[in-house]
Amino acid sequence: MDPFSITTNSILAVFTVMQLGLIPIMAEGETTVFGAVGEQVILPCIDKPQTNGVTWKYNDQVVIQHSIYLSRGRIPIKDRYELNKQEVSKGNLSLKLSQLEHSDAGKYVCIVGSRTFEVQLQVFEVTGSPSGYLLQGKNLMLSIQGSSSASVTWSNNRKDKVTATQSTELKNGGRTLQIHNLQVEDSGTWMCHITSLSAKLDIPYKVLVIGFHNLKRETLYEAVNSTVSISYSLSTHLLQIRELEYVRVGLEWKPVIDSKYQGKFNFSVTSKEQPLSKQMANMQVTWKPSHTLEVKLSKVQFEDAGWYQCQLTVSRDHVEKAIHLVVMTVSADPVGPLSKWANVTLLCKLSAPIPPNAQLFWEHLNGTEKKLNMSGHSEVMVKTKTVGLWRCSLKVENNTITSIDYTVVKAAEWNNYVLIWAMVGLGASIVLLLLASLFIFIFTARQRRRRRAEKMAQARRDLFERRICQCQRQLKNDYSDA
Ligand SMILES: *[C@@H]1O[C@H](CO)[C@@H](O)[C@H](O)[C@H]1NC(C)=O
Ligand SMILES: *[C@@H]1O[C@H](CO)[C@@H](O)[C@H](O)[C@H]1NC(C)=O
Ligand SMILES: *[C@@H]1O[C@H](CO)[C@@H](O)[C@H](O)[C@H]1NC(C)=O
Ligand SMILES: *[C@@H]1O[C@H](CO)[C@@H](O)[C@H](O)[C@H]1NC(C)=O
Repeated sequence: MDPFSITTNSILAVFTVMQLGLIPIMAEGETTVFGAVGEQVILPCIDKPQTNGVTWKYNDQVVIQHSIYLSRGRIPIKDRYELNKQEVSKGNLSLKLSQLEHSDAGKYVCIVGSRTFEVQLQVFEVTGSPSGYLLQGKNLMLSIQGSSSASVTWSNNRKDKVTATQSTELKNGGRTLQIHNLQVEDSGTWMCHITSLSAKLDIPYKVLVIGFHNLKRETLYEAVNSTVSISYSLSTHLLQIRELEYVRVGLEWKPVIDSKYQGKFNFSVTSKEQPLSKQMANMQVTWKPSHTLEVKLSKVQFEDAGWYQCQLTVSRDHVEKAIHLVVMTVSADPVGPLSKWANVTLLCKLSAPIPPNAQLFWEHLNGTEKKLNMSGHSEVMVKTKTVGLWRCSLKVENNTITSIDYTVVKAAEWNNYVLIWAMVGLGASIVLLLLASLFIFIFTARQRRRRRAEKMAQARRDLFERRICQCQRQLKNDYSDA
């Protein structure tokens, strides 16, 4: 309230009092002030500068007095009352009251000379039940305590006015706000707005929800043999809570919705958080302090499909988040190259029922052949002789979620290769055979020639020897004759 209106009010009040012929002991101005528990408040009292002194009373007892020197009243804990001396000399006799309590509410009177100004203090507090941190999915009740004459409204952490919805409920004439099924996104400062004709006050309330950030995709569709990454992001630094509570993080898995979860990985968060990592078969689980649990599946198999749930335990309470992994696989019967006139059966299947607005189909790329799944079926089969590239796709509203390619190979192509290689082999062997024959021919010819030469030499030797013999015989005969 500005000093001018206070003065006007005072004049009016004095005038009325004088008109009624009463002694002017009534307050010259009355103001209402709202304060919040734990906060401070200014009880206004403005007069002309160079006032001689001021006395503040609460429930008819002096709480503070200022003349030339400052003296304090007799009621206890008066340290919370304060007059600003500089402001006083300017005629601002407002009283500052800090660390408000509910018991501070009531009527304050500022007495300046023969004049009095009255201030009504109303003290409010917003309480939450349960108080402190909250786990995702829980309910929270906020209520306002204090004078019931004021009107109360609330706004959420996005500064939107709270109305009765599915998740918020207003009770008790708006003085109580019930928030159902709290989500991480509800964390932040909520506000309580208290208004009356002459005063208003906004009281903040901090809401802290521990849980997992909402992912856009809660179901992952992945092709077999691909690498899958699932991560769970926590809303809060666990170390803050760790100081007060026992905190544990775990990963569990179940293959089908009706089965029981099996624990995969579990550890307690210590006061000295460190990165943790564990490898189990094709699964790598990594804890990145202090926000994220990451699960990596390399070469994901059809059998790896199912629900992967991260569980956070805080004391005896827990909160969890499950992500559904759906795996797509394809197979062919028979496997391998397709001989002429034979058919191949291509099968494509998902590990879980397909979503209602989705399509699963086989199509021959660069062709027209296409086969859709029957409605509701999580598999599609095609019988074909068409070779080339086939693709099985899962589409939701024209967006391809995942796909796998399969190439049907013609056996004829395969035979041609065999034939070519066979001919090449045959050619090579013939050449080798010819070479070998030639070699043998040359070798035997040479051998024969050598043998003939040897025979001739022998004959010549024989002839020569015979001639010598004949000579000797002739000589012998010559001697005997002599
Ligand atoms: C009067 O003094 C108080 C501090 O005691 C100050 O907060 C307030 O703004 C002052 N009022 C005016 C009108 O100057
Ligand atoms: C997945 O990989 C294995 C070998 O690692 C292979 O035999 C199989 O055909 C692959 N599956 C698909 C659908 O590609
Ligand atoms: C291939 O499929 C067609 C139609 O489904 C069928 O008529 C034919 O007998 C099949 N051929 C072989 C060799 O299985
Ligand atoms: C399919 O057709 C496109 C052109 O439309 C061509 O570039 C591509 O090589 C073809 N692929 C096969 C496997 O024939």
